[in-house]
Amino acid sequence: MATSSSSRVITCKAAVCWGIGESVKIEEIQVEAPKESEVRVKMLCASLCHTDISSTRGFPQTNFPQVLGHEGVGVVESVGENVSTVKAGDVVIPTYIGECGECENCVSGKSNLCLRYPLSLTGLMPDNTSRMSVGGHKLYHVFSCATWSEYAVIHSGYLVKVDPTIDLAHASFISCGFSTGFGAAWKEARLETGSSVVVFGLGAVGLGVISGAKMLGATNIIGVDINNMKKAKGEVFGMTHFINPSECESEKLIKDLSGGMGVDYSFECTGVASLLSQAIEATKVGKGKTIAIGTGTEALGPINFAALMMGRTVKGSIFGGIKPMSDLSILAQKCLKKEIPFDELFTHQLPLQDINKAFELSKQPDCVKIVIKM
Ligand SMILES: NC(=O)c1ccc[n+]([C@@H]2O[C@H](COP(=O)([O-])OP(=O)(O)OC[C@H]3O[C@@H](n4cnc5c(N)ncnc54)[C@H](O)[C@@H]3O)[C@@H](O)[C@H]2O)c1
Ligand SMILES: [Zn+2]
Ligand SMILES: [Zn+2]
Repeated sequence: MATSSSSRVITCKAAVCWGIGESVKIEEIQVEAPKESEVRVKMLCASLCHTDISSTRGFPQTNFPQVLGHEGVGVVESVGENVSTVKAGDVVIPTYIGECGECENCVSGKSNLCLRYPLSLTGLMPDNTSRMSVGGHKLYHVFSCATWSEYAVIHSGYLVKVDPTIDLAHASFISCGFSTGFGAAWKEARLETGSSVVVFGLGAVGLGVISGAKMLGATNIIGVDINNMKKAKGEVFGMTHFINPSECESEKLIKDLSGGMGVDYSFECTGVASLLSQAIEATKVGKGKTIAIGTGTEALGPINFAALMMGRTVKGSIFGGIKPMSDLSILAQKCLKKEIPFDELFTHQLPLQDINKAFELSKQPDCVKIVIKM
């Protein structure tokens, strides 16, 4: 089979975290040519997800030095042997789970966690080696991605081809945060028309939940956030009520807004460990369902046994149950058709060189998504 691989090593810039709590440095790194089943991607645009902040704190991966970033979109520079799914010039979204379509989970219809292309926490390629180095040091990467690098080598099982006319910032947003929330409503909760919903945390993930819930016909969509600037954002995506828990008794207000019974579905999208229990208790006795999405370094708080035993369900989710091949392409189509107001997520933009400013900017109340220009 013809390949476009060159054996040339590319020297380029990348955002490297050298250890837990250390500032991120822009380094000149070496990116090797793709091997069999691998693809070298020139990143075009990336963005920051809250999980990138966790990455710098050693969660969920502890191996450093680490090239950061898992949201982004790029163009195929070259492919290794036996790659038939993409070719040089294709525009692709790197993903952190794949979809082989054949493993037990892929065929089950119950999970997006492909067993052949799993979420990898080794920071290495599937063959346990790295294609990236800095000054002779082996570099690890985040999951199967390394989107805050000008070039990255990615296994072909973790790439989704998209229409080259797609808006690059929007494509980057659907590569993790927004799709995770949207998918949690669509694929994990599979919520019904007329459902009631509460969403804790209105970052890109929570706004994605609201958008998905609205698409599926939820009529009562309550957003909870300590930042009042998220009220207007939530409303753009379909939120019907906003609660700031630092200004009122949120537990009581959620019950009041849902006829005293609680909601059908709740979504934890803050990563604040103590909120999971509150999210469970906000749902209806007997049939309420909670989707746990937020994560972080904090240990999970205690969960009220009695509340859980009352017939409620909690489901943890990676990527909101989105299957990269089957479902992400549907979201990419929605991007192309401008069906979702993605521009509302886009609040800041920085060149890769200024990556450390992104961590500071993310703390500003008006910040939703920071685009990183390559
Ligand atoms: N499971 C997955 O696959 C997956 C994917 C993407 C992100 N995540 C996780 O989801 C979470 C959200 O990600 P994001 O990028 O939207 O984050 P974000 O930081 O943009 O948004 C979090 C929101 O939560 C709000 N918040 C913080 N503390 C709160 C509190 N006590 N009560 C109410 N609201 C509070 C913040 O004001 C903010 O608006 C993170 O923990 C992230 O790591 C998980
Ligand atoms: Zn599979
Ligand atoms: Zn993410």
